[in-house]
Amino acid sequence: MTRLRDWPDWRYVLTEFDGIYRRGSAGGSAAIRSHQRQVRERLSRVFQANPEMLPTEPTAKPVVAHLGRAIDLAGTGPLASMAKALDRIDDQLSWAWGYDHLPKALAERYAYAELLGPRGPVIATDLILGLVLLAPSTVYPQHSHDGIEESYVSLAGAWSENDAAVYAPGSLILNRAGQQHRLTVGDRAPCLLAYAWIATPERLAKLDMHFAKSAPKPRAPHA
Ligand SMILES: [Fe+2]
Repeated sequence: MTRLRDWPDWRYVLTEFDGIYRRGSAGGSAAIRSHQRQVRERLSRVFQANPEMLPTEPTAKPVVAHLGRAIDLAGTGPLASMAKALDRIDDQLSWAWGYDHLPKALAERYAYAELLGPRGPVIATDLILGLVLLAPSTVYPQHSHDGIEESYVSLAGAWSENDAAVYAPGSLILNRAGQQHRLTVGDRAPCLLAYAWIATPERLAKLDMHFAKSAPKPRAPHA
């Protein structure tokens, strides 16, 4: 049995997450400040527990072809030290789709990798930390997460949520439990997001992601 402290490169990635949620501004929002604090507190308990690791089989998905560029771009942005830490473990990540029914166009252009959570590789019950990778020009259809409060931290690329704003590396976006959101990605660069989910252990134990019933179909990439 190996524990987190036996996996220093993974521990450094989690240390980078801690820094992002500790140093990043809440922009004056009490809700975002509270979310940041909850992520830090839950992560701090993981560091203290030095949990058992549950190694997962490295698994690629088609979008992983964009990961190198995404990490390179993240390395030139405000979260460059996270990019360097990720560069050390990027060949160990287990990329997944998470949906039972995934539109074919999206299967080519999207995947996520959990770093910490009930399914490992770093075991935690009340927090999930991971990465989402989206190819250029992707539309990630409308979805929500019941009972889960989610934040996205932008590492690379330019993207929008609900057509409300364009987010650059360093931005933190809070999606409250059940809030519908739809992502679009610019056509020049892939989008790499770090994300955090906080919820009860019972909620995080089940993986039931689904798109909104009226979700628009992802559009084809620009010709
Ligand atoms: Fe989401």
